[in-house]
Amino acid sequence: MKINERIRQIAINDHETERFEGLWDLPYGVGYNSYLVVDKKIALIDTAGTAYSDLFFSWIKEEIGDRNIDYLVVNHMEPDHSALIAQLKEKYPDVIIVTNAKAVPMLAGYHGITDNIQVVKENDVLALGQCTLQFIMTPMVHWPETMMTWLEEEKTLFSADAFGSFMATDGDTKDNFEKFEMEMIRYYACIVGKYGLTVQNALKKAAPLPIGRICSTHGSVWEKRIPEVLHLYQKLSTYSSEKGVCIVFGSMYGNTAKAAQSLAAELEKLGIRYALHDLSKENLSYAYRDAFRFSHIAAGSPTYNNDIFPPVRTFMHGLISRQVKNRKFFAFGSCTWAGGSVKMLNEMAADHGFGLIHDGLGFQQAYSPEKCDMKTVAALLAEDLKQGK
Ligand code: FEO
Repeated sequence: MKINERIRQIAINDHETERFEGLWDLPYGVGYNSYLVVDKKIALIDTAGTAYSDLFFSWIKEEIGDRNIDYLVVNHMEPDHSALIAQLKEKYPDVIIVTNAKAVPMLAGYHGITDNIQVVKENDVLALGQCTLQFIMTPMVHWPETMMTWLEEEKTLFSADAFGSFMATDGDTKDNFEKFEMEMIRYYACIVGKYGLTVQNALKKAAPLPIGRICSTHGSVWEKRIPEVLHLYQKLSTYSSEKGVCIVFGSMYGNTAKAAQSLAAELEKLGIRYALHDLSKENLSYAYRDAFRFSHIAAGSPTYNNDIFPPVRTFMHGLISRQVKNRKFFAFGSCTWAGGSVKMLNEMAADHGFGLIHDGLGFQQAYSPEKCDMKTVAALLAEDLKQGK
């Protein structure tokens, strides 16, 4: 697809992969974007996954005919973008791979490639003819070798995974921020969320650039919506939140579920925004998305083997490993004879630095509003939200 005379996008739409990285649901698919910069010399920026090699190389041929690809810029070595490098070298044997030192052992390890590599470092440039590529090192967004490529003459930032999203574009390739926003947040929370500090470093490096176009490896190209996209990344990488409650729960026989639904109903009555996630049924990615969005987290777990119910424990570990900060927390859950999950949830949350808004509500056997007074908890949450604590 022609972005303009100089930049072409190879946008692969993947509706077959069920889970990204083997973990994260893809209800709307996922896209992999590569870009050709066409000048006296031709540079290809990143490749795609192996499943799409025929499509990938036929689309390149459509764009450049029998011309050679002079450079392959490798911004990121994760196999969803690097799997076709060896095939590319077979088809274009003179291609020079342009990347940074941290990618060199990965090229050898993944593909056995050790030659025709041009190693670049911060702010190095590569002239293609009328235009010039400049390289910006952005380590740990979200792998150690990640970098971005700046095309000054087109005010275009090839940003690797940054500013990308789940969801195949299917032809809707530019500036539909409303359509992609929730899938951008879910992508960020699952894939990049652990690296807020290094994303901040990358944003600081990008700040002086007069960016007119962002070309990510996933999802939409951004032109008119760049302010919203940068603002979203600023918000997510600083763990800022909107007022609201992310309720997550797991349930064995429906009692913790009823408590969660009761909390949701009380919040609804008070006009408080919330999201409700049943971790016994749902992929964790949606709960991570809303834990990144909202200021308060309510976690419900039955006591299971004297422990937190497994998917809820996994969720908590995920929050901690992603270093989610500045959240308030509330725990609840059922047990039959000996509780413990509520105490353990509170300990995990407090040790991580979340503020507890309540001691937690544990109850035995069947749920009832008398045993588990969510009305009081909802009022506490409302008060806390009102005060912006
Ligand atoms: Fe889309 Fe980190 O690969």
